[in-house]
Amino acid sequence: MTEKWAGKVAVITGTSAGIGAALFKDFANAGIITIGLARRAEKVEDLIKELGGDVKAYAYKCDVSSPESVTETFKAIEEKFGVVHILVNNAGVGRSTSIFDESPEAFRKMNEILDTNVRGLAHCSREAFRLMKKSDDYGMIININSVIGHQLPFTGFSMSMYGASKYAVTALTETMRQEMLIQENSKIRMSSVSPGYVNTEFVVAAGFVPDSTTVLEGFPYLVGDDVSKAVMYLLSTPYNVNVTELTIRPVGEKF
Ligand SMILES: NC(=O)c1ccc[n+]([C@@H]2O[C@H](COP(=O)([O-])OP(=O)(O)OC[C@H]3O[C@@H](n4cnc5c(N)ncnc54)[C@H](OP(=O)(O)O)[C@@H]3O)[C@@H](O)[C@H]2O)c1
Repeated sequence: MTEKWAGKVAVITGTSAGIGAALFKDFANAGIITIGLARRAEKVEDLIKELGGDVKAYAYKCDVSSPESVTETFKAIEEKFGVVHILVNNAGVGRSTSIFDESPEAFRKMNEILDTNVRGLAHCSREAFRLMKKSDDYGMIININSVIGHQLPFTGFSMSMYGASKYAVTALTETMRQEMLIQENSKIRMSSVSPGYVNTEFVVAAGFVPDSTTVLEGFPYLVGDDVSKAVMYLLSTPYNVNVTELTIRPVGEKF
């Protein structure tokens, strides 16, 4: 059912690990020309080697939190591929600090979250939208949001700016959908995919918990592949169907 996207061009951000790496493999195996962005582009190169010679998959080094890096990367993509049909805004970070922490480090972490999860998503969307319009073909922008982007549970630790950043993703998904209506663009669909807990590097790297064992003891979890399959379902829907929000939780999730 995803055959209609074979030979089309997809850009996925944050493909060096976790959900993004699973997406990268599924897209490439579906015959889509798949471009993975990450700061650790060498890890995306490793995935390409794993996939073997039959797929069309490419790695670009890009820091989505830097507007200059995003502009340069999409310029390079335009030069090589001309157009883009699908963008998955997956790159994201969490950082545990208190909003009331007065240290420069806390301020830096809060900005890192906003620069990556919110501003980075907006910059990548703008650049991809430009290349989607150029194609004059069907397109999709899929934002990897979170259940935290719809409701903040009491966890006993501060998610700092993370919750606000994901609420912003919910708002931006709808804002972009409305902007497309204003521009009378009915070919590009906007979706938010909101996973519950996914067992990746994310939660420990965010400093929300000390180690992955602590999380796994208390919570049922998804893996990156589960989220990727949900995105593949979105690709399989007909062009006149816009699933604007898709929530995916592990069975038994309590928050
Ligand atoms: N894990 C969960 O429980 C969970 C739940 C709901 C939603 N999510 C969301 O799912 C998305 C992916 O998370 P994950 O769990 O797969 O995390 P992960 O395993 O930590 O992977 C994060 C990915 O984002 C990339 N990234 C981070 N900052 C970047 C930047 N400035 N520029 C380019 N790439 C950047 C990383 O690549 P580099 O470091 O190589 O740049 C990495 O590939 C995030 O948006 C996250 O908020 C995760």
